[in-house]
Amino acid sequence: MDMVAGRSMRIITIANQKGGVGKTTTAINLATALAAIGKRTLLVDLDPQGNASTGLGIEKDDREVSSYDVLMETASITEAAMPTAVPNLSVIASTLDLLGLEMEIAGATGRAYRLRDALHFHQVETPLFDFVLVDCPPSLNLLTINAMAAADSILVPLQCEFFALEGLSQLLQTVEQVRDSLNPTLDLHGIVLTMYDGRNNLAAQVVRDVRSYMGEHVYDTIIPRNVRVSEAPSFGKPAILYDMKCSGSQAYIRLASEIIQRERRLVAA
Ligand SMILES: Nc1ncnc2c1ncn2[C@@H]1O[C@H](COP(=O)(O)OP(=O)(O)O)[C@@H](O)[C@H]1O
Ligand SMILES: [Mg+2]
Repeated sequence: MDMVAGRSMRIITIANQKGGVGKTTTAINLATALAAIGKRTLLVDLDPQGNASTGLGIEKDDREVSSYDVLMETASITEAAMPTAVPNLSVIASTLDLLGLEMEIAGATGRAYRLRDALHFHQVETPLFDFVLVDCPPSLNLLTINAMAAADSILVPLQCEFFALEGLSQLLQTVEQVRDSLNPTLDLHGIVLTMYDGRNNLAAQVVRDVRSYMGEHVYDTIIPRNVRVSEAPSFGKPAILYDMKCSGSQAYIRLASEIIQRERRLVAA
């Protein structure tokens, strides 16, 4: 822990190898909610699709320095971070260049530590952020491994659907492997249930199952399915800016305060 309370940088990686479970939506809106309560926040987009960058209004042509450059060690965190329309929120955008990264650094030693080293250097030099959130691609590839190796903890979005638990054990196994090999202090920050539809009986059953299987690891906050949340990215805005009052935005604001509370407990422990 940092000597100056509250000045240490917390790195949370948002991962699930399944696509479409709400990783990017969670990354954007959680980052926005943390920024809104005054936390200096950086979102690192590690998905070649770049949906987090687009959802924060960063045009493709403006991504001159990206997460690819950071992982290639040709740009620092400070050089790659771009301001967004949200005060206190910066983003390191991604480009399709990331698709080639795995091949390009396949033989390099320490290739799993590229992001960690860049963030660590940043923390030592000029810690401009309280929170760093990393949005991962939908696979357990070198990009996700970099994100896990760099993180203090993992946040897993889990869609409220029948097969939710199936992919979770594979993900937890990967977290375990990363802990054994690359990052012994990595912990599971929590599991957030997303796209909950109260009219669907199955969804309620999934919530019960996930809670009984994962217990304390599951956040109290559940993110409802909410059309405003899915509309927002096409306006290049986080849902919280697009419609702060909608149920989805409100849920993400609650999730942010729950996360801050968990962080406090970690600090106190
Ligand atoms: N709470 C929600 N309510 C409605 N639609 C959502 C919600 N969360 C995510 N979506 C939509 O579901 C799709 C997948 O979400 P996304 O965050 O991109 O998942 P991932 O990053 O895991 O692939 C997107 O079209 C997104 O807008
Ligand atoms: Mg995504």
